[in-house]
Amino acid sequence: MSAGSRKSIADVVAGHDVVVCAGSGGVGKTTTAAAIGLLGATAGRRTIVLTIDPAKRLADSLGIAELGNRPTPVPVDVKGSLSAMMLDQKGAWDALVERYAESDEVRQRIFANAFYQNLSGTFAGSQEYMAIEQLSQLKESGDYDLIVVDTPPTHHALDFLDAPSRLGNFLDRRVMRWFVRPYMSAGWSGLRVVNRTAGALLRRLEDATGVSALADVSEFFNAMSALFEGWDERVKRVEELLRSRQSAFLLVATPEEQVLSEAEYFCSKVEEHSIALRGVVFNRVQSELGSDRQSMEEDAIVEALGRAVTSAATRRRLARNFLRYETQARGDQLRIESFRDQLSPAVAVATIPNFEEDLHDVRGLRRLQDFLGKPG
Ligand SMILES: Nc1ncnc2c1ncn2[C@@H]1O[C@H](COP(=O)(O)OP(=O)(O)OP(=O)(O)O)[C@@H](O)[C@H]1O
Ligand SMILES: [Mg+2]
Repeated sequence: MSAGSRKSIADVVAGHDVVVCAGSGGVGKTTTAAAIGLLGATAGRRTIVLTIDPAKRLADSLGIAELGNRPTPVPVDVKGSLSAMMLDQKGAWDALVERYAESDEVRQRIFANAFYQNLSGTFAGSQEYMAIEQLSQLKESGDYDLIVVDTPPTHHALDFLDAPSRLGNFLDRRVMRWFVRPYMSAGWSGLRVVNRTAGALLRRLEDATGVSALADVSEFFNAMSALFEGWDERVKRVEELLRSRQSAFLLVATPEEQVLSEAEYFCSKVEEHSIALRGVVFNRVQSELGSDRQSMEEDAIVEALGRAVTSAATRRRLARNFLRYETQARGDQLRIESFRDQLSPAVAVATIPNFEEDLHDVRGLRRLQDFLGKPG
């Protein structure tokens, strides 16, 4: 399919309520998510960008000082509105405890619980839980017409969908298998019932052996059973939301070989999860400057530089540098073309140039945003 005959990313954004930006590390997910947020807000929608990026890149690129666990308005002149928030794991878990603990006393007990402190700070899958929880809350609040989700580095957005089994895996690894397994399979309510006796038993064991973790675990799940009981239901709702026609998955990729092969893997995985890939953003693409083959001969360039550059050696260096750039740009184009050829014509594409400077403010995002509007 030739360039230009596909839908633009802006069209895709306009037709969806949730947009998830996924892709390999460092390719421009956060920047793209911010630009998409700006696009939505400019079009008059109440928009929020949700980031899980601990590097605080979103705040940077939106040009605001600080982002936290609550929606923060971004001061931009748009028809709609733009807010942003960043999930920090610890704060987000604490907010969950605040929300689900039955009483002050339970809340205090959980905050003081050693297992909880460990879980909320370090649990590998907890970013995805928090993202799921947050996404459902934002969606259900009805406060936003467009929610843009930026996914964390090295994880991909599919981790959302693996969240339930990850909790199981986590418990398998971190807590003794023989203890938790039977209760896990009986469901959370089973765990709660068993826990009353198990808790007392464990405390005695703990006195005798000095092993405290299991009692902590037991207490934690007991106190938080209200949260975990509704968990599967919420995960299911978010899965449905992500698979529904309201949500669009976008893949961000740079033209490097390695990134594109990861991107290919991502596309196949997305399909396995019955999610439709709606768009691909090729970011930081270099384009060839010389259209005339003749002008690409090294000697011709040296000659063209003529008297403007007095040193012959510098002329030669500039010419080589230029040709190297052109070769790279040609490579970028070829790799992108072959990737694009494999995509269904229904998938929107945008090609964004590699700008000469980092995109760290709204002005920079506007430059990027323009390219999202061009049919790729
Ligand atoms: N088209 C572009 N031209 C120039 N710089 C860009 C472009 N796109 C992104 N950048 C810059 O590249 C850097 C990485 O971008 P960004 O943080 O958006 O990537 P990311 O995919 O979110 O990374 P991570 O996986 O670490 O979260 C940023 O400094 C950003 O300003
Ligand atoms: Mg990022």
